[in-house]
Amino acid sequence: MTWTSTQVQLARRPEGVPSDDVWDITSTEVAEPADGEVVVQVRYLSLDPAMRGWLNDVRSYIPPVQIGEVMRAGGTGTVVASAHPDHAVGDVVTGTVGAREYATLPGEELTTLDLDLADEPTWLGALGMPGMTAYFGLTEVGALQDGETVLVSAAAGAVGSVVAQIAKARGCRVIGVAGGPDKVAWLRELGCDEAIDYREGDLTRQVRKAAPDGVDIYFDNVGGPLLDAALANLRRGARVVLCGAISGYNAQSLPDGPKRYMSLLVFRARMEGFVVFDYEDRYPEAIAAIGSMIRDGSLVARETVLDGGVRAFPEALRGLFDGVNTGKLVLAL
Ligand SMILES: NC(=O)c1ccc[n+]([C@@H]2O[C@H](COP(=O)([O-])OP(=O)(O)OC[C@H]3O[C@@H](n4cnc5c(N)ncnc54)[C@H](OP(=O)(O)O)[C@@H]3O)[C@@H](O)[C@H]2O)c1
Repeated sequence: MTWTSTQVQLARRPEGVPSDDVWDITSTEVAEPADGEVVVQVRYLSLDPAMRGWLNDVRSYIPPVQIGEVMRAGGTGTVVASAHPDHAVGDVVTGTVGAREYATLPGEELTTLDLDLADEPTWLGALGMPGMTAYFGLTEVGALQDGETVLVSAAAGAVGSVVAQIAKARGCRVIGVAGGPDKVAWLRELGCDEAIDYREGDLTRQVRKAAPDGVDIYFDNVGGPLLDAALANLRRGARVVLCGAISGYNAQSLPDGPKRYMSLLVFRARMEGFVVFDYEDRYPEAIAAIGSMIRDGSLVARETVLDGGVRAFPEALRGLFDGVNTGKLVLAL
């Protein structure tokens, strides 16, 4: 048997926001799997800010997507043919499936999902890579202590919403930052003690008002002016967790550096970056912890699911930078 698969390939490297002409959308025939391989019919694709970085031809923690290559993307789907002993037809699996309808992958690169614990989109969000990022970024890099004051940006997004809820469960005072009144209202529903709409500006004053004694952890997902506002409001011994800087991902020149970096000296603070893949061996620990929070109701896993199939991938990716998502952004195929 063969399957016809529509796929999204990188046609040229983007400048700024990736426009439609960055991509070629083509069809290909997918054959029966060779020994050790599995054919997956992709059901949900994960949209990740990091994808924008993978399009740049620069040295990074992972090689860039090459021109002509199918766009790298995490996803979930159903096994439709298997030549691997661990995967049977009908199993629902996750892995780096790529932006396409059918993916042929080595069986050992796929993980079977426990759908009794959560639906497929949640396995791309709170129980997927973003949830792992929140967990290890906060507990390991941030060295979270019970009762601390935690500031988190992009707090209504996939990583940020899990950071906020883990910190809340640890008895912290949590200040979430997001764009717009609806997201701010959702952050309060999640239990954030304070919620800041960064679009209202005057960020240093807003953070100071929310955390008059300063913050112990700033979990930075956005960079830019909010990073400076956070640096201006640290407590002694603070940790700035450099998770991402989405505000600059489409910039065509390097942004100004943090103006307030001397706060790290003044407050005996540190700022440390990390890549979640370095914790891959410990994902089961984070899945167990977040899974038990989902089960006992202390963590709400939310996703924004876009329709439109794989052809909607270019627009869905741009949506991340417009903040169309509350919780994890996924595309249904
Ligand atoms: N270090 C790692 O290993 C690792 C792993 C995963 C993710 N990350 C990083 O974590 C961050 C969050 O990723 P995510 O997957 O959870 O995405 P997300 O927060 O679910 O989605 C991105 C959000 O960023 C916000 N945003 C977009 N442009 C912005 C701007 N100019 N200024 C401020 N906010 C902006 C939008 O929310 P608003 O509507 O609130 O603006 C949007 O919803 C990203 O920086 C990503 O690169 C790092």
